[in-house]
Amino acid sequence: MSLLAPSILAADFSNLAQQIRAVELGNADIIHCDIMDGKFVPNITFGPKIVATVNKLTKLPIDVHLMIEQPQNIIKDFINSGADYITVHQEEVIHLDRIINLIKENGAKAGVSINPSTPIESLFPILHLTDLILVMSVNPGFGGQKFLDYTLEKVRSLKQLKTEKDYNFQIELDGGVNAENIVEIKNAGCDIIVAGTAVFKNENITETTTKLKNLII
Ligand code: DX5
Ligand code: ZN
Repeated sequence: MSLLAPSILAADFSNLAQQIRAVELGNADIIHCDIMDGKFVPNITFGPKIVATVNKLTKLPIDVHLMIEQPQNIIKDFINSGADYITVHQEEVIHLDRIINLIKENGAKAGVSINPSTPIESLFPILHLTDLILVMSVNPGFGGQKFLDYTLEKVRSLKQLKTEKDYNFQIELDGGVNAENIVEIKNAGCDIIVAGTAVFKNENITETTTKLKNLII
């Protein structure tokens, strides 16, 4: 079984409470928050204040995906706002070991993400330290992009490594997920699957959430 993490990037922010309630009713497992700074990625989204609002609106775990430069400066603020998972990008962070410890010491689960073109080998030294590896299946920055299927090979390799070496990290995938590819993604070994457009750009968000969930049970 995999868990479904709707990304509120694709939600209607004029009615966020209703949108979050809708995915809860469809049995979503985690709320994924995409934080972008206009530097690490071209787009800009929101910060700790909105995460605190999301935290008020749901009891589900909150998964904060930091697509920002210098994430170490703002990690504590996101954790104080209710983040359960904090994920940073391997491509941005020079001292991964230090930042993983910082996240854990402040009481959240520590994730590391890799872009589609980043090899999993870059993570090998710290795999025993992380709680989560987030494999990007689109180039980060925007919702609604096409799924890059070659990234599934990285998920399969990570899953194999995890089994062989008895690592504890969860494997998450993010970008371009839909009802057509979600089963293959689950079968590749993903524990958590993020979906933005496929969940929220719909007439009936609850029904779509349930449908996606049923595909990955
Ligand atoms: C992309 C974000 C994703 C995005 C996924 O930079 O990290 O979480 O919201 O959106 P969809 O599912 O529309 O590709
Ligand atoms: Zn994301």
